Amino acid sequence: MQTSSNRKKMVIGNWKMNGSSTANASLLRSVLPVISRFENVEIALCPPYPYLSAVADLLDDSEVALGAQNLSAELAGAHTGEVSAHMLHDNGCRFVLVGHSERRALYAEDDALVAKKFSTALQAGLIPVLCVGETFAQRQAGETQAIVTSQLSAVLNAVGVDDLVKGVIAYEPVWAIGTGETATPEQAQAVHRHIRQWLATQNHAARADCRILYGGSVKADNAEQLFLQPDIDGGLIGGASLDAMSFVAICSAAQDKTAA
Ligand code: PGA
Repeated sequence: MQTSSNRKKMVIGNWKMNGSSTANASLLRSVLPVISRFENVEIALCPPYPYLSAVADLLDDSEVALGAQNLSAELAGAHTGEVSAHMLHDNGCRFVLVGHSERRALYAEDDALVAKKFSTALQAGLIPVLCVGETFAQRQAGETQAIVTSQLSAVLNAVGVDDLVKGVIAYEPVWAIGTGETATPEQAQAVHRHIRQWLATQNHAARADCRILYGGSVKADNAEQLFLQPDIDGGLIGGASLDAMSFVAICSAAQDKTAA
């Protein structure tokens, strides 16, 4: 069983709908020589679909993994405009984000669809990164733990605890995403502890093994304090993953905190 000190830290860069062939190559030229030397942190990058295979080529010799930002819940067939889990795997992806709050809020992805995507990702050999988190109004109403638990339960009920913990969980308070307003380390740790305790009620071993990342305005200057928390195993990074110096600093903070 792993303890908080030996769960390997993880940093995932979520580029969202940003980038171009030129900008991606330039960003990778800046960050890869540094971050690929960090052995204590697992790093993945999630570019938009059209750039997956070019980024896969650029990552080729490094330990940095490729991830996608979304996938279809369907396996194959007449689904114009969708991208299947097998296609992502075929293009070199190891991870895929599932249930990001922008997908939930802007593209009406409900818990049932998120659970189906999670299951489809696993079937194709991908590691789903399940995003959960409350809105500001829900936090104000004291509903944070209930919301997070119900989002996790939807996936647990669909796939079972053994499959749930094959994924990575990302706690991303909606009010902190892209707003510059980060949860304090204490606020984030409280939710991460709640998630780990909830996992323990399902399966004791799962509690210690499952990695739980924090996301929401993680920056170079707040990453270290967040990653020091005992139940925070790294970060899912949006805006700051597009800035070479910031991303390197965040990965470096995770690298340094692994053995803390
Ligand atoms: P942010 O995004 O770091 O820009 O807040 C995080 C995310 O959406 O995963």
